[in-house]
Amino acid sequence: MATTAATKPKPFHLRDGLCVGSGAIDGDHQRLFAALDDAAAQMKGSGHGVAQTVFLDILSDLARHFSAEERILAAVGYAGLDHHRICHRVLMEQARAALAMGCDGEWPTALRLLSTAVLEHIAAEDCQVRPYLREGRS
Ligand SMILES: [Fe+2]
Ligand SMILES: [Fe+2]
Repeated sequence: MATTAATKPKPFHLRDGLCVGSGAIDGDHQRLFAALDDAAAQMKGSGHGVAQTVFLDILSDLARHFSAEERILAAVGYAGLDHHRICHRVLMEQARAALAMGCDGEWPTALRLLSTAVLEHIAAEDCQVRPYLREGRS
């Protein structure tokens, strides 16, 4: 069967099973990966300035997401919040390193690195919060 635009797999997607159980957090995660997909499409054939703007917009969304997520984790009394905040700071440093790589002309690699880092964080850290969200400890 031929691959059409409708059936072509998206380069960046959130794996099944990575929902944390908060509509706000899961919604942000879905939007982040949709933004990465949009960025990959927008960067094709566009100049450095467009690619940089698109990437910086994603970093802003990521920073907003981390702040919102930390407020939710604090509200449910998540015991690992201090560690989680540190992980967010490290991930923002990785995101800025990816931006620098993009500015060196490696935008596809920058997007892939950012996507992988975010995915690993969701799987290893965000999913730890599920029991707290399920029990509604707010
Ligand atoms: Fe997180
Ligand atoms: Fe998150």
